[in-house]
Amino acid sequence: GEARRAVRAADCGRARRARVAGAARPRPAVARSVPDKTVAAAAVEVVEGHHVDVVPHVPSNYPHFTPFIENVEQYRAMYKRSIEDPDGFWGEIAEEFHWERKWEEKHTSWNFDVRKGPIHIEWFKGGLTNICYNALDRHVQEGNGDRPCFLWEGNEPSDDSVMSYKQVLDEVCRMANYLRSLGVGKGDAVSIYMPMVCELPIAMLACARIGAVHSVVFGGFSAEALAGRIADCKAKVLITSSGVMRGNKKIDLKGIADRGVELAAKEGHEVPTVIVREIKHAVPRKDTKVVEGRDVWWEDAVAGQSTEAEVEWVEADHPLFLLYTSGSTGNPKGVVHCTGGYMVYTYTTTKYVFNMQEGDVYWCTADCGWITGHSYLTYGPLLVGATQVVFEGVPTYPGPDRCWQVVDKYKVKQFYTAPTAIRSLMRSGDLYVKEHGRDSLRILGSVGEPINPEAWRWYHDVVGDGRCPVVDTWWQTETGGHMIAPLPNVWRQKPGSATLPFFGVLPVLVDEKGNELEGEAEGMLCIKQAWPSCLRTVYGDHERYQTNYFAPFPGYYFSGDGARRDADGYFWITGRVDDVINVSGHRIGTAEVESALVAHPKCAEAAVVGYEHPIKGQGIYAYVTLMEGVHQSEDLRRELVASVRSTIGAFAAPDVIHWAPGLPKTRSGKIMRRVLRKIATKQEDELGDTSTLADPAVVQQLVELRGK
Ligand code: WTA
Repeated sequence: GEARRAVRAADCGRARRARVAGAARPRPAVARSVPDKTVAAAAVEVVEGHHVDVVPHVPSNYPHFTPFIENVEQYRAMYKRSIEDPDGFWGEIAEEFHWERKWEEKHTSWNFDVRKGPIHIEWFKGGLTNICYNALDRHVQEGNGDRPCFLWEGNEPSDDSVMSYKQVLDEVCRMANYLRSLGVGKGDAVSIYMPMVCELPIAMLACARIGAVHSVVFGGFSAEALAGRIADCKAKVLITSSGVMRGNKKIDLKGIADRGVELAAKEGHEVPTVIVREIKHAVPRKDTKVVEGRDVWWEDAVAGQSTEAEVEWVEADHPLFLLYTSGSTGNPKGVVHCTGGYMVYTYTTTKYVFNMQEGDVYWCTADCGWITGHSYLTYGPLLVGATQVVFEGVPTYPGPDRCWQVVDKYKVKQFYTAPTAIRSLMRSGDLYVKEHGRDSLRILGSVGEPINPEAWRWYHDVVGDGRCPVVDTWWQTETGGHMIAPLPNVWRQKPGSATLPFFGVLPVLVDEKGNELEGEAEGMLCIKQAWPSCLRTVYGDHERYQTNYFAPFPGYYFSGDGARRDADGYFWITGRVDDVINVSGHRIGTAEVESALVAHPKCAEAAVVGYEHPIKGQGIYAYVTLMEGVHQSEDLRRELVASVRSTIGAFAAPDVIHWAPGLPKTRSGKIMRRVLRKIATKQEDELGDTSTLADPAVVQQLVELRGK
């Protein structure tokens, strides 16, 4: 062990020097999210030129832990069974949970082919269970009630608290009882709009306990976005908080929530009850506006409620939650996930991908407003029985060493974050990392967007000191859990590749016509058969579910991503091939930003594209055509950006507004986004075929106006 460690350390020293020496050279091309063959190929070359030197080939190079799976051969055998015998493979894992009634022997069935009728997926047919019971009660009953469940770390480093599994269960039961007292029950929707305090996952678990369907809305969304989500699912209750501190900024969450409820009423849905958690350090009670008869303080609501609440046993396919997410067109879709399959799958991926054991201290920096905070904060790790950090703040406050300080404070073993955070911390320099020991770290996870090899290397070599595998996990809101991800210490890694599929996942690459591609290839990433946590429908619109995900390539679930498969069968995600952009790991539909811009009375037309951004992965580049007679100005630019902030949220604000007298359109009126992407990135010499443009002069005009 010792000798090997010494060798590794020497290896890493070399790798780091190489990296520093390389810093003066032009930066290597990063694998960017805009699908572009040349760039992706360049990234791969850079990677392959280095990986032999830097990335361990053999698992035993990480001496600190033994994976559950011993080697690639064992993985291959398990994988094969998971695909050929899903009933048996997943059934065995499901035995680890409590089921009030067991599922049938042949419990799966699905139709993944739109040509054969409606898309339909079933897992654990006949089974009755409850995910809250399995995440909390089970551990308490096994005698682990005193184990820390949440280690809450506030925005200020001095602000923290601990809740044990038993304490979390008690609070969940109190809230469950209160929700029941309001008449909320099985199948009712509850909207949750909160910062990262323990009460957020507690509220989610309370809903799950009574069979209600939670719909968490990320705290960075605007009142309008919140209203749309409340009205769409007809929430019976909204759970929110008095305010929140983010870095130095105080955010009046309750004010936004009030406005959201008002706007939802205008859309035809009244929310009868709003539960408000006081966040003293942001906005104390006395400074909070309360609407009589509608608002109730969380503390008052749960006071006097029993810490015992009957469990609502639900069918395995009973909906657990809705989560709205952006697509190419139209309003965000309410993705529906169901109890049994989601429970078994998030548990299994958490266990194997993070090599997680009961009691491990794990930290995922994602907000519960996104799918990562659902699957790998609220559910997966609790199902495993881990202790986790719940972080209210941001990775750069009060300083760029916050993450490593927190890692040392709690002795975090598995750390899971987004490439955006990694790139921004990398930019602050290695010293902030090295000030802290990080000895507890075992696994480093990445999620949300492609991680460029340069950031991967820094994460691996500097943050992990070369002794922690990086798990680059590719998945989506729709997939519920990891789809393509390395099993740490089981096979060789390649920086920038999510590597191989998880159990039960059958990824394929198809060409434009939907033909499957074999071997080394690049194409559209599809999934060929159902996995347990596949989304079951789009809330209230099964038609849209089928059209969006199953109609583009009949016979397959279409992810919306492009990917390349190399000679070793490793997958390299190249990014979205549709009109979705990924800004700091946040999914944004270009159509949503365009409609927010066009809503401004002076804007005649808008077209939005993504462009490569060094920290955020992608930035938002908006072309705006003004109304006849309106002149461009700095004020107007600011107003347009503000309009997007108030319609969607600050995270969707355009980085660039490009004044456009006209947009490049085909004769049939379709905007050629390919051309707009090239102009945005100053690559107009690579426009390709523009012969179908109605007015080719528009291109030159746009190039001249760039930066004006
Ligand atoms: C992108 C987040 C490359 C991808 C879990 C996907 C990734 C979208 C990765 C889903 C990764 C996520 N490598 N790209 N490891 N993880 N993506 O729904 O484009 O917020 O389609 O789910 O993020 O974003 P979502």
